[in-house]
Amino acid sequence: MTGATITGWGAALPPGVLTNAELVRGLDTSDEWIRERTGIEQRRIGGTTSSLAAEAGRAAMRQANVSPEEIDLLLLATTSPEMTCPGTSPKVQHLLGLQCGALDVQAACSGWVAALITANGFLQQGLKKILVIGSETLSRITDYTDRNTGILFGDGAGAVVLEATDGQANVLGWDLGADGSHADILYARPGDTLVMDGKEIFRQAVAAMVHSTRKCLERAELTVDDVDWIVPHQANIRIIEAAWKRLGFSLERTVTVLQHTGNTSAASIPLGLSAAADDERFRPGHNVLLLGFGAGMTWASMLVRWDPEAASRTVGLHSELAA
Ligand code: ACO
Repeated sequence: MTGATITGWGAALPPGVLTNAELVRGLDTSDEWIRERTGIEQRRIGGTTSSLAAEAGRAAMRQANVSPEEIDLLLLATTSPEMTCPGTSPKVQHLLGLQCGALDVQAACSGWVAALITANGFLQQGLKKILVIGSETLSRITDYTDRNTGILFGDGAGAVVLEATDGQANVLGWDLGADGSHADILYARPGDTLVMDGKEIFRQAVAAMVHSTRKCLERAELTVDDVDWIVPHQANIRIIEAAWKRLGFSLERTVTVLQHTGNTSAASIPLGLSAAADDERFRPGHNVLLLGFGAGMTWASMLVRWDPEAASRTVGLHSELAA
């Protein structure tokens, strides 16, 4: 097995800020209700899916010290593509000056982790450096006059570079699942806004997070006590709390950004990852669980050992052997 490690990360948030105070004007809800029931205080609004993706992708490549020519594949997870056809990823490929293939991944809020699992598979096929981006402009498909959905969603993007290493298995485990019998609890028809059965999503989301965590840890032959951090999909703090109660995990070791971003679907996990990597909450050797669930229903998780230097050690080994 080829090893894989995250070597760079980046985030992009549009300048517009929509606070609860602004949102609740003219709506039958309140700042207090939204904070208590979701944990969200504000969301960011603006940009385009491709421009946010390119900004986050550029930052991730810079951090990884990788040039556009070195990227072997671009995977872009998004629930808010710019067009029905073509996909948004070729546009991002062009904006970044990449010379590789580009694919859109649509698995709603699980999309970015699903793309990361896919990227790991491509590394097993011989690719070396893959840019994996999650980018959303959910404000385009959100009705902010509907208190049921309008309180939740925002825009943003996050990205990582996933690189092959010499056999060191920094991807410790993963899980990917779907249950299409729940496709009608959260959807948007073409050209329309999101429709949601919040209560049912809440129930399904908690079950999916617990299930996927257990499957992923089983594959890694580890237990929840071996996990240093979880970066969950940022939908609602109460969903996270309910899942952690069942798993026996603590909020102190949980990365959350939803207070400032709202639910940014496929962008939410790489946004959280970037925040925790930037402020060095993640230390080399930490086991980090990336845990997504979303419309479909879909779910996806990956357990990674945090070691951004692993790929450069591989390069060092290669050049030593060559010398
Ligand atoms: N403001 C004030 N009152 C409200 C609001 C609101 N925005 N929304 C609902 N209410 C009312 C309801 O009408 C209900 O009133 P009633 O008791 O008189 O009937 C009461 O508040 C409680 O409603 P619930 O639906 O039980 O509220 P709940 O605590 O479940 O919170 C919420 C609603 C926030 C939508 C929650 O169900 C939730 O977060 N669900 C998951 C949503 C989600 O995460 N979606 C995306 C996930 S997948 C993805 O990211 C694509």
